[in-house]
Amino acid sequence: MTIKWVLTGLVAVVLMSTACDNSKKLTGGNALSAGLKDAYKKDFLIGTALNTAQIQEKDSTAARLIQQQFNAITPENIMKAEIIHPQWNVYNFELADQIAALGKKQGMKVNGHTLIWHSQLPSFARSIRDIDSFRTFFTNHISTVAGRYEGKIASWDVVNEALNEDGTMRKSIFLDKLGPDFVTEAFRLAQKAAPTTELYYNDYNNEQPAKREGCLRLIRKIKEAGVRIDGVGIQGHWHIGKVPLKDIEESILAYSALGLKVMFTELDIEVLPRNFSGADVSQRMDNNPTLNPYVNGLPDSVQQQLAKDYEDLFRLFLKHKDKITRVTFWGVNDGQSWLNGWPVRGRTNHPLLFDRKNLPKPAYHRVMNLKNVAPEEKKAF
Ligand code: XIL
Repeated sequence: MTIKWVLTGLVAVVLMSTACDNSKKLTGGNALSAGLKDAYKKDFLIGTALNTAQIQEKDSTAARLIQQQFNAITPENIMKAEIIHPQWNVYNFELADQIAALGKKQGMKVNGHTLIWHSQLPSFARSIRDIDSFRTFFTNHISTVAGRYEGKIASWDVVNEALNEDGTMRKSIFLDKLGPDFVTEAFRLAQKAAPTTELYYNDYNNEQPAKREGCLRLIRKIKEAGVRIDGVGIQGHWHIGKVPLKDIEESILAYSALGLKVMFTELDIEVLPRNFSGADVSQRMDNNPTLNPYVNGLPDSVQQQLAKDYEDLFRLFLKHKDKITRVTFWGVNDGQSWLNGWPVRGRTNHPLLFDRKNLPKPAYHRVMNLKNVAPEEKKAF
């Protein structure tokens, strides 16, 4: 009898310690343990960009992490025109339908990215010479794609990156063929096709004063035309030790003063050397070993600086939580970040809150600690 009790006790202790070990790993299968989305649930949505494998839940560890940490998702590439609309009369909705279904299944808000962008355009569109044909492509694209997801996704980045650094309109095929009103026209068409979907303008460096002024002008112009715009996305591709907190704060205030929701839509903090700021995808740098110093992991001093930058940023976001509706990271973990391939190919970058094994980095804990997550909840990690 006594031996049986002792054995039962031993088994229980072993089982309990295994359970604790697993739950510490964040991704260890405890779907109920709190994540970023829970810590920040009264403040703003916490989002992430998903690649195709993640949309299709190919990796179960990543799928659990996504469910546990995020309540908003943006497709990293598959709603861009070159994929969703590869030829004049051909639309490829399969993957976009899958992300809409995933959002519904997991209760995560889906942000469509993006209807009108000069990059990742299908080659047929780039080679249209005639202005009327180009206008037909523009109209069909917005009406068909935005129309299909009306009621199925929460929002659209209607226009992405229409501005230069000095706040003037970027030279692009849209400006060239349709003139500067193409932004307002895109919102007008999106509003018609998707009357209950939120509509946003999205850009990088639009927290910088000159570009911000241009962005404010664009927003006023859309509103003055009687067209709906609900929010502005500041992409937030920043660099370690140089996150422009003052410009960010001034921008939150300036955009929300126009009645817009403010979002940080593509957040990552680059830790590798780069000789320019922002996120112009056409800008590239040649590779050389000095540009790739952290192949075997981040030194502690850099890890701590990254953690501090994220903490400072989220403290600022919390200060303005009444104006901010969503903060989305551009990727789930470091291994999958686009910054491993841009602007230099083949680097090992470390810009996010989760490492290559989907484990939380010090930056994650600093962002969680800002919310003073109750000790019992903390233990669950
Ligand atoms: C990037 C993707 O992450 C890459 O996979 C792709 O090769 C290029 O585009 N600004 C944007 C995003 O609005 O769509 C870009 O995403 C990053 C910069």
